[in-house]
Amino acid sequence: MTAQTNRQFLLAKRPSGAASRDDFTFQQVPVGEVAAGQVLVKNEYLSLDPAMRGWMNEGKSYIAPVNLGDVMRALGVGKVIASQAPEFAVGDYVQGALGVQDYFLGEPRGFYKIDPKLAPLPRYLSALGMTGMTAYFALLDVGAPKAGETVVISGAAGAVGSVAGQIAKIKGCRVIGIAGGKEKCQSLIDELGFDGAIDYKNEDVNAGLKRECPKGVDVYFDNVGGDILDAVLSRLAPKARVIICGAISQYNNKEAVKGPTNYLSLLVNRARMEGFVVMDYAPKFAAAGQEIAGWLASGKLKSKEDIVEGLETFPETLMKLFKGENFGKLVLKV
Ligand SMILES: NC(=O)c1ccc[n+]([C@@H]2O[C@H](COP(=O)([O-])OP(=O)(O)OC[C@H]3O[C@@H](n4cnc5c(N)ncnc54)[C@H](OP(=O)(O)O)[C@@H]3O)[C@@H](O)[C@H]2O)c1
Repeated sequence: MTAQTNRQFLLAKRPSGAASRDDFTFQQVPVGEVAAGQVLVKNEYLSLDPAMRGWMNEGKSYIAPVNLGDVMRALGVGKVIASQAPEFAVGDYVQGALGVQDYFLGEPRGFYKIDPKLAPLPRYLSALGMTGMTAYFALLDVGAPKAGETVVISGAAGAVGSVAGQIAKIKGCRVIGIAGGKEKCQSLIDELGFDGAIDYKNEDVNAGLKRECPKGVDVYFDNVGGDILDAVLSRLAPKARVIICGAISQYNNKEAVKGPTNYLSLLVNRARMEGFVVMDYAPKFAAAGQEIAGWLASGKLKSKEDIVEGLETFPETLMKLFKGENFGKLVLKV
C-alpha cells in the first residue's frame, strides 16, 4: 500500500444471521483531495462494537442503517494530515465516525480533539470514549445505584460491562458479573474487584443468582438480553431498576427478538425497566470524561483494551464480539 491508497470495507449486503466477510466489499482506492470544510484523517484505531451488526440491517433504529455500497461505519481515532476545516489543524488527533478504512476524507461532523499525551489512543475508544460514557450514564442515570445495593451486570467482562461494574464498586455497591468462561469470571473478581461472578456458559444462571444475590437484585445492567434477562427478572428486589443497554444474544437472530417472559416480576416488585441510548447524553460527555479520567489516574478504575492488528482482519475481528473472544474493549489497530 502507498500513502495515497485507501483500503476500505464497504457494506455489500444485509446479512441474515451472523455477519461474515461476504457481507463486505474490500477495495483499494486513491485518497481524494481535501475540499473546503473537509479534513483528511489517517485512521489509527477503530472501535468494534456489537451495534455495528445492527447498523447493517435495514429498518428503523436509533440511528440510520449503513447504506449498501457505503464505507462501513465505525468510530475511531486518528491524526489530521490535511485540513480545510477551521476547527482542526494538521497534527491534531481526533475522535469521530472515521469508517472502516485507512483514511477518512470529509466534513468532521461530530468530531472532537483528543490528546495522546494524556492517555494512549485506544483508551479514547474505551473508558474515555463511548464505552465509558455508556457505562457511566446507563448505570448512574438509569440504574441510580445506592451504596450497599446489589448490582448485576451481564456481558461483565466486555467493554461496557467491565467499566460499569467498576463504577458500581466505586459507588459502594455489591457487584456481581455474568460472563462466559471460568477465566473471565475469575479475573472479574481478581483484577476488577467484582464481589462475585456467574459463568453462564458452565453453570445454571438461576442457581448462580440465588447464590450470589441472596437479597435479590436492585440494579440489573443488561447487555445481553434473552434467557439471562429472564433469569435476572426472576430475582429482582423490590423497586429494582433494569437498564436495557443492549441485547447481544439477539443481534444475529434470524427470527424475531426473544422478549422476556418473566416481565410480571416488574409488577410484583414495583420495579422498572428502561431503555438507554448513549447519544442522549452527549452534552454531558466532557464532564463525565473528566470524572472517569480521575478514576483512571487514581487507580480506582482499570481500562482494558483488547487490540487486534490489521484493517484487513475487520470482518473476522468484528465477529469475535459475538463469540465472546474479546476481554475488555475490542479495538482494531489499522
Ligand atoms: N445503548 C447504548 O447506547 C449502547 C452503547 C454501547 C454499547 N451498547 C451495548 O452494550 C453491550 C456491550 O457492548 P460492548 O461494546 O461492551 O461489547 P462487549 O461486551 O465488549 O462484547 C460483547 C460480549 O458479549 C458477550 N456475548 C456475546 N454473545 C453473547 C450471548 N449470546 N449471550 C451472552 N453474552 C454474549 C461476550 O462475552 P462472554 O464471553 O461473556 O459471552 C462478548 O465478549 C452490547 O449489547 C451493545 O450493543 C449499548
